[in-house]
Amino acid sequence: MRRKVIAGNWKMNMLPNEAIQMITELEPLVKDTNNEVVLCVPFTDLFYALNVAQGTNIKIGAQNMHFEEKGAFTGEVSGKMLKSIGTEYVIIGHSERRQYFAETDETVNKKIKAAFENELKPIVCVGETLEQREAGNAYDIITNQTEKALEGLTENQVENTIIAYEPIWAIGTGKTATNEDANEAIKKIREKICQIYGQNIANRVIIQYGGSMKPSNAKELLEMSDIDGGLIGGASLKAEDFAAIVNFDK
Ligand code: 13P
Repeated sequence: MRRKVIAGNWKMNMLPNEAIQMITELEPLVKDTNNEVVLCVPFTDLFYALNVAQGTNIKIGAQNMHFEEKGAFTGEVSGKMLKSIGTEYVIIGHSERRQYFAETDETVNKKIKAAFENELKPIVCVGETLEQREAGNAYDIITNQTEKALEGLTENQVENTIIAYEPIWAIGTGKTATNEDANEAIKKIREKICQIYGQNIANRVIIQYGGSMKPSNAKELLEMSDIDGGLIGGASLKAEDFAAIVNFDK
């Protein structure tokens, strides 16, 4: 059985005092869950979030990293830097980074490799635009992105990569993919992994759904056969909402 990983992506929100307050409120609400609880916070919150989450079941992640270890890359943060303060997860290739910050399948692949070199757990985002979906290309796009993201990884690394299927048209729009559509897309991603790396690995890879997941729709999505968790934006900013998603199975 694959575990469920419920991860929040705060995006560019939350000052340190707000981060500390949210995590303090969240802790008692999620302490009894068997699901993995992750919050991916802005760089400026990392240190505070790590401190307040210490000794709890809440794991902390970043939202991006550079693939080089150090050097003349003004404004960037490396995997080694993230690891040095105890960060556990890192989101890689979010569609907002692909769209606004020129991330490509190639940089995504380099970042995943660098994440593993630094013992960070990557959450890798793939997803199609509305145009691509309407043109009938969604599955090609997402399986291609997956294949390129994982290129050159060891089997063990593939197995430990979390993939987040986030249809771009569902992000921040209030439009959620139907349970069946989300599950079907995730199955296609798993089939691609099976073709390349075999059934055992495909069975073990965690594949999340992301895009307007909220307390009112989380249960039906998370109970689908192939949806192994969620990557949650807006609804991860409030402890009560995020806890309700984490506790979907209670
Ligand atoms: P929303 O949950 O706000 O739609 O954001 C989804 C997302 O992009 C998570 O990475």
